[in-house]
Amino acid sequence: MVGLKGRDILSLVELSPREIDLILRRASILSRRKRVPQELRGKTVALIFQKPSTRTRVSFETAVAQLGGHPIYLSWNEMQLGRGETISDTAKVLDRYVDAIMARVYLHEDLVSLSENAEAPVVNGLSDKHHPCQILADLLTLIQYKKRLKGLKLAYVGDGNNVCNSLLIGCAKTGVDIGVARPLGYGPDPEAVKQAEEAAEMSGASISIMEDPEEAVKAADAIYTDTFVSMGMEKDRATRLSTFIPKYQVNRELLAHAKPGAIFLHCLPAHRGEEVTEDVIDGPQSAVWDEAENRLHTARGLFSLIL
Ligand code: CP
Ligand code: NVA
Repeated sequence: MVGLKGRDILSLVELSPREIDLILRRASILSRRKRVPQELRGKTVALIFQKPSTRTRVSFETAVAQLGGHPIYLSWNEMQLGRGETISDTAKVLDRYVDAIMARVYLHEDLVSLSENAEAPVVNGLSDKHHPCQILADLLTLIQYKKRLKGLKLAYVGDGNNVCNSLLIGCAKTGVDIGVARPLGYGPDPEAVKQAEEAAEMSGASISIMEDPEEAVKAADAIYTDTFVSMGMEKDRATRLSTFIPKYQVNRELLAHAKPGAIFLHCLPAHRGEEVTEDVIDGPQSAVWDEAENRLHTARGLFSLIL
């Protein structure tokens, strides 16, 4: 049974392949409409941010507003949360006011606590472990460019972070073969790898984690990278940059190992000269602006289904 109404979206683990497909289809249908149906009329969505954001904040605020609802941007430090009010108390109170809560937090456990203490659906706008809404937009981008998901080959090169964890699960669920190239000690979360492997058994997708970027990229339909220094890891910046650069930088030479016509993906924000070179991200194979636009379409699809 597919039913997303009232559901929490903390990671892609809880979504079946059919539910992911439903969100992507809804997103795609709404993306072609000039005016979207006012499905959120009279509804309020709290958007809590413990870290900075451009895409997540603006796409969610815009999606809720375009669907006729009212988004409330809440900065963690301007809430009593920043002065020590507990997550559970905050959740219980917000639950009396709003119809859904989206939160971007450092600790994934804080999202779990929000969801355990609020009846309203809770959506993950990025945590240390997962970034499910980003991967919905990435999958939609793959469909737009490659007309399918099953059987595609995606290479993720770089840091095995939150985006990589969710990408593994999203690809595994939808039948995209994924190869991750990362330095030893910077791999994806073992739990996420296990969850992806379980999903891959059902979809037939292959998952491989390796050290050599050229091996991962070989004959890939898409190459994905993300920052080497995620939010909260700034103190390790120097060590990280010297670990990842030059071997894990996506540049023209690396891209040449992919299929001709392979696309370049990045969740953004990007750091030119670090994880990607300017000629790649601003070059003809880059799909990053469509990918960013798809954050809006998938946010509309998601809210239209869960509310
Ligand atoms: N990709 C993404 O989540 O971007 P923001 O940090 O700008 O929200
Ligand atoms: N991995 C990055 C993603 C930003 C959208 C971070 O956590 O900072």
